[in-house]
Amino acid sequence: MAATANGTDSSSEELLFSSNLISPEVLKALPEGYSCRPLRRSDYHAGFLDVLSVLTVVGKISEEAWNERYDWMSKRNDEYFLLCILDANQKIVGTGAVFVERKFIHSLGLVGHIEDIAVAKDQQGKKLGLRIIQALDYVAEHVGCYKTILDCSEANEGFYVKCGFKRAGLEMAHYY
Ligand code: ACO
Repeated sequence: MAATANGTDSSSEELLFSSNLISPEVLKALPEGYSCRPLRRSDYHAGFLDVLSVLTVVGKISEEAWNERYDWMSKRNDEYFLLCILDANQKIVGTGAVFVERKFIHSLGLVGHIEDIAVAKDQQGKKLGLRIIQALDYVAEHVGCYKTILDCSEANEGFYVKCGFKRAGLEMAHYY
């Protein structure tokens, strides 16, 4: 798979959302040979689920089930923005998502919810997590969100502070 000079790839396969929403600054700041692009359907075979498993239990997902979920998201691609960082071998080594919530309050405001940030264990500490957050911030800002919010563990608070976030409120949960 050929990579272009700006860090995106030249494959004609459709992406989950427009690659115009990938921050040029993030592409420039990535390590040599690394790239960042929106998720695409064939990423089932590029290590996407392996990377997510550093975050939590992923479960056994067949390719058919993946395709069904991908197609569902793809129909809502003004709401679901999942992106990947790839290494020089086109293997997915990091991922993150922002979901755009449409509100009535704040004059029909849009809020970005940052979710499922994960960097492969052997790639952590290279600022890829920071680049993922910067890339998601860029998407959120460019689609018109007035803020992005996220939940994280105490152990990750320092990471998000380094990414420019500040503590605001308290998470509550009901599990079903
Ligand atoms: N606590 C404090 N500081 C941290 C932490 C942490 N847990 N992790 C990284 N940092 C610091 C780094 O030292 C670096 O600081 P520097 O600029 O002074 O050098 C800065 O944050 C940026 O670090 P990165 O190299 O970009 O971090 P990395 O690529 O390792 O990614 C991440 C961080 C995403 C938390 C990664 O460790 C990971 O995938 N962990 C497992 C999955 C996880 O917990 N994901 C977050 C879940 S919360 C959510 O999804 C909303």
